[in-house]
Parts: sequence; C-alpha cells; structure tokens
Amino acid sequence: MVGRKNMNNDRENHAPSLLIATRGFYRRRLTFCAPLLIAMIVPVAPVLAGEMGNAAPVDLKKGESLAKQMCVACHTDDGSHGVPLIPIIQGQRANYLVKQLTDFKSGARVNAVMESLVGSLRDEDMRNVAGYFSGLAPVEVKPPKNVDLAAAGREIYALGIPGKSVPACVACHEPSSPAMTAESPVLSGQRQDYIKLQLANFRAGSRKNSELMTQMALHLSDEEIQSIGAYVESAKNK
Ligand code: HEC
Ligand code: HEC
Repeated sequence: MVGRKNMNNDRENHAPSLLIATRGFYRRRLTFCAPLLIAMIVPVAPVLAGEMGNAAPVDLKKGESLAKQMCVACHTDDGSHGVPLIPIIQGQRANYLVKQLTDFKSGARVNAVMESLVGSLRDEDMRNVAGYFSGLAPVEVKPPKNVDLAAAGREIYALGIPGKSVPACVACHEPSSPAMTAESPVLSGQRQDYIKLQLANFRAGSRKNSELMTQMALHLSDEEIQSIGAYVESAKNK
C-alpha cells in the first residue's frame, strides 16, 4: 500500500578463467574505446564532486521509515520481491539510486508511477532512502534457466561486441570495474525482464537520462538483449 498521506513527510559470476581473460581484455579494449569512455565520463565528474561535497549525513532510520511508507508496495521493504518489471534496488549503489530518483523527479527519466511518487521527496529524503536500500544485502541469485542463452550474454558482458564497437559491460558495471563511475549501477542479479526493458528503452530513445547508455544500447539486437538479460539475472552479485 502506498501511503499517500505520508508523501509530504519527511555482483559477478564469471568463472576464474573468464576473469583472467577479462583482465587482459580491459587493457586492449579500454585502449580501443578510451576516447569514447573519457568523453562520456569526464564531464560528470565536477558535477558529482560538487553535489557530494554538500550532502548532509545520511539518516538510515529515516530512510527505512520512508521506504516502509512509500516503497514497500512495489519494491517491498527489502526491495527483493516485486514483479518482474520492477527492479531490485536492495544492495544497489546509493549514488545510482539517488540519480534515478532525481531524474524521475525532474522528468529526465520518464515513468508515470515513479514520477508520481518522488514529487514530494526532498534531496535528503532521496539520500536517506537510497542509503537504506543500498545497505541491504543483495538478493540470492538462481542458476540460469537457459544455460546457452546466458553463456552468450556472459560473452557480451565480459568482452563486448568488437564488430559493433560495443564495449564490455563489465568495464563499468561491477564494483571492481575500472571505468565504474559514481553513478554506474551494479547489474549482477537484477531481474532479466527489467534489464531487457531498460536496454530496449535506451535503444529506442524512450529512456533518455544517459547518453552514454543510449550509445551502448544502440547497436544491440533483440537476441543480444535477451542473452544479456539471461546472464545478468543469474550472475552472482556482491
Ligand atoms: C507503485 C509501484 C512503485 C512504488 C510504490 C515505488 N516504485 Fe520504484 N519503480 C517502480 C517501477 C515500475 C520502476 C521501473 C521504472 C521503469 O521501468 O523505468 C521503478 C524504478 C525505481 C528505481 C530505478 C531503479 C533502477 O535500477 O534504475 C528506483 C531507484 C526506485 N524505483 C526507487 C523507489 C523508491 C525509493 C520508492 C519509494 C520512495 C519507490 N521506488 C516506490 C514502481 C514503484
Ligand atoms: C562506460 C561505462 C558503461 C559501459 C561500458 C556500459 N554501461 Fe550500462 N550504465 C552505465 C551508467 C553510468 C549507467 C547509469 C545510467 C543512468 O544514469 O541512468 C548505466 C545503466 C545501465 C542499465 C540500466 C540499469 C537499471 O537498473 O536501470 C543497464 C541495463 C545497462 N547499463 C546495461 C549495460 C550493458 C548491457 C552494457 C554492455 C553492452 C553496458 N551497460 C555498458 C555505464 C556503462
């Protein structure tokens, strides 16, 4: 139940051999895509530094209370038991969650449900609730239903698609990733239906809050998106 009256109140499962292959790959591939990566990452750095410098301390108790009043109906209080198209947010990085909440509020990311919910949230409410969810343990992952599909997705995730200039997703999407920005989400363990929807939205231009991810998704085929989803959902998160 969404407490409307309260609205104004205040991962990765690569086999060791793949990891080793990936490390070597970073050097080659990141050199190859370096201009693209630098052009996309550098402009956000000063903005982030400024925002984070002014942030008040995060109040996890307030965050928990807000989550229980306003988020449990869909994400549940631990963020893990929603329907397939509702993302798992427990264990997600706080900076990423804050950016998404801010983008839903400003309209930079369009979603009618989330937009109506975040309208009354102040910046500090967003930081508190993001802090609360990010501090919860990641969900348990299950082995993939379709092993071959997930293996194809794992290859794209770890190595990219050189023929299409699609870089390796792992370069930015795991806590140890060399190019992970303050706002990169951890993808391992996320629901596949949600991942597929977001990649299709980036590709179609209906999710416009990251030019970087629009570029990443632009050349992915439906089959590639399917396989990435299958892999990501079954990849062990940390
Ligand atoms: C009525 C259902 C509903 C409620 C209640 C709800 N959400 Fe959501 N949330 C969604 C849906 C659906 C999406 C996926 C939006 C999309 O497809 O772009 C979403 C997406 C998000 C995302 C983006 C996650 C990502 O991986 O990009 C965040 C962050 C989020 N919600 C946080 C919250 C918080 C915090 C609350 C409570 C203040 C909340 N939500 C309450 C339905 C809900
Ligand atoms: C250069 C770094 C970088 C690379 C490489 C990259 N991403 Fe991303 N990705 C990001 C960032 C940053 C975001 C957050 C976008 C935003 O602010 O909404 C993101 C967001 C996403 C999301 C949305 C997650 C959510 O919870 O809504 C998906 C899905 C995604 N990326 C998949 C991929 C896949 C698949 C690949 C490889 C083909 C990839 N990314 C490569 C940086 C990257």
